[in-house]
Formats: sequence, C-alpha cells, structure tokens
Amino acid sequence: MDHVMRDKLHRPLRDLRISVTDRCNFRCRYCMPEEIFGPDYSFLPSDKILSFDEIERLAEIFVSLGVKKLRITGGEPLLRRDLAKLIERLGQIDGVEDIALTTNGSLLKRHAADLATAGLSRVSVSLDSLNEERFLAMNGNRGKVKNVLEGIEKAAEVGMGVKVNMVVQKGKNDQDIIPMARFFKERNHTLRFIEYMDVGNSNGWRLDDVISKKEILDQIHQFSPIEPMKPNYRGEVATRYRYIDSDQEIGIISSVTDSFCSTCTRARISAEGKLYTCLFATDGTDLRELLRSGKSNEAIANSIENVWNHRDDRYSDERTSMTPIRTNAKVEMSHIGG
Ligand code: GTP
Ligand code: 5AD
Ligand code: SF4
Ligand code: SF4
Repeated sequence: MDHVMRDKLHRPLRDLRISVTDRCNFRCRYCMPEEIFGPDYSFLPSDKILSFDEIERLAEIFVSLGVKKLRITGGEPLLRRDLAKLIERLGQIDGVEDIALTTNGSLLKRHAADLATAGLSRVSVSLDSLNEERFLAMNGNRGKVKNVLEGIEKAAEVGMGVKVNMVVQKGKNDQDIIPMARFFKERNHTLRFIEYMDVGNSNGWRLDDVISKKEILDQIHQFSPIEPMKPNYRGEVATRYRYIDSDQEIGIISSVTDSFCSTCTRARISAEGKLYTCLFATDGTDLRELLRSGKSNEAIANSIENVWNHRDDRYSDERTSMTPIRTNAKVEMSHIGG
C-alpha cells in the first residue's frame, strides 16, 4: 500500500526520525547542559525504551503510510547496543529508500564498517569547532576533535555519504565558521551550519546568541564565493550552496531566520515510543502503549493517520516575533534527536 496522507497544511509524511536512546556521552551546553543532565538525572530505564522488534514494527507501519526515509537519532544513537542489527532489519523493509544516522561521531570510527555493511548509507556528524578548547567548552568537556575527525574519515572510507553539522553560537564558536569551511572544503565533505535554536527548555536560548544565515553566508562568501544549488528533495532542511571554484557543497540550516515549515514532511519517535509531529512540540502520542496493549498494525496505522491528519505545526514559521513562543513545555532535543 502506498498511502499518501496529508496534514492540515497538505504536507505528506515522508521522513521518520527514530530516537534509539535518550542518553549521550556528551553534554553540549545547547542540548544537555551538565547542571540539568548531571549524575542525578533519570534517563529512561530499558523497559521503557522501544525494543528493536517494536521499532521495526513501527517502521513497517510508517512505511505503509508513506514514509520513505528513516533516520536514526538519539541522544547518541551509537550508545545503543547492536545498532547495526537494527539498521539491517530496517533496511529489509520494502519501501525504505534511505537510512541515515545523526551522531556526535565519537564512537563512529569503531562502528562505521559494521554500520555500512548493515546498510546504513549516510551519516550526519556533529562537530562545532576544530579548536580543542572551544569544542570541549561546547560539549561539556567530553569529546575530542581528533576522535570525531577520525570517525568522519572512517565513515567516508567505508563508502557512506557524510555531512558535518556545526551549530553556530555567538561568542562560543563563531570564530570557527571560516576555519571549519576551509577544512571541510579541502577534504571534500559537506559542512552545514545550523542556526542555534530554542529547542527544549534547558539551554537558555536568546535570539542574541544566534548567528543568522545571512551573517554566515557573508563570511563564507568572503572566504570563497559560493552559488546556490537546487534542493536534493522537496522539503530539504538545509539550503545548499556550492563553491564556485570547486564542486564542493556547503549548506545552512536556518530554522530561526528563514524557516522551512511549509515543506516539513518529518515525524519523530522518541526512544520511549512517543510520536512527535514537530521538533518544538510540547507532547507526543504514546505509540508504545498501543504496541504493548496488543493493538493490530491496522489500528496503530489508523491512530497515526489520525494524528497526522490533525497536524498543523509550524513553530519556526510562527516564531516571527523572534522570541521563543513556547516556554518550559517543549520536548528536549535529546529525546527526539533534533
Ligand atoms: P538530510 O537532508 O536527509 O541529509 O537530513 P537532515 O539534514 O534533515 O538531518 P540532520 O539530522 O543532519 O539534521 C540537521 C539538523 O537540522 C537537525 O539536527 C536539526 O537541528 C535540524 N532539523 C532537522 N529537521 C528539522 C525540522 O524539521 N525543523 C527544524 N526546525 N530543524 C530541523
Ligand atoms: N540548536 C541547533 N542545533 C542543535 N542541535 C542540538 N541542539 C541544538 C540547538 N539548540 C544539533 C546537534 C546535532 C543535531 C542532532 O542537532 O548539534 O547536529
Ligand atoms: Fe549529545 Fe548531540 Fe545533544 Fe550534544 S547535541 S548532547 S552530542 S545529543
Ligand atoms: Fe517541521 Fe516543526 Fe521544524 Fe517547522 S519547526 S520545520 S513544523 S519540525
């Protein structure tokens, strides 16, 4: 069945982002600041987290509702044991065209070969600076630049498509925009700059801390002129550019100053099995309960369709007043993986 359902803004559901753990070995200040996600923080116990069987079953149901792309997220997804086995199972679902993973890269060198063999085609690796001191300051003193770079190279070596994501925060790593651009241009990896966003309730976001798409583009242009490229697919999150003197691509993800909700075809499932229809949602629909209470696939598909049909989320578009419009009630990034 290739069923196209539409939300209230006529957007189909195409991409499913599946979080496989709420834990992370980093403590990025903009996502899981140590003061909140410290030793006393209660992460989900294993019986509350979806099993591989449950994830596979949900993925099959979502594919029957139109999903073509799956992306595995976290927390840090490579902390989930035997992740390659899950990738392999998901790749066997008829109708899945693409499986990708978003990771902090720290464990990627160790796992890249197995993941590629299991059928993972692409990875997005987060890296906010090449400067060790600033990188440590941003990730809560956990990750080393060298490990992440080795993970990136290994992933490319085993044949996966690699994109590097850099969250830009004023006064924290804006001096790294050009060094990062130069480094990844020379190594032929696509770098995407992400505007710092007001996701979750923990990072104390202020508009003043955002470096806008325009400011980033101005800097890149001075370093090496670029020209726009067409999107890879309708609804692509990043706006793409190419350096004029080479074919290397670079991108900007501008949720704050140039939002892209009108083409948003993404749904997210948290590690505990809640379905979220927006990155900035306050609550989700408990699919785990449906799975564990013996509902049929058809009944679960109907519930998901009902949620999607009522979806009218466009948080980033609505953030025009340029202040966070929902305070203290948003789902944390580490629950739904960005
Ligand atoms: P591909 O286009 O398939 O390569 O993936 P992607 O860029 O959507 O995935 P990735 O996980 O690399 O996304 C990069 C970042 O973009 C995420 O971590 C988020 O910060 C942001 N992002 C992704 N989807 C959305 C979205 O729907 N809304 C907003 N506001 N930000 C998003
Ligand atoms: N703003 C922008 N990007 C963020 N990420 C995490 N928190 C934020 C935020 N507040 C990014 C990570 C990673 C992806 C999962 O989301 O750096 O690239
Ligand atoms: Fe972990 Fe990614 Fe959040 Fe950093 S942004 S704390 S690496 S989940
Ligand atoms: Fe989609 Fe919500 Fe992001 Fe808009 S803010 S693009 S609706 S996830």
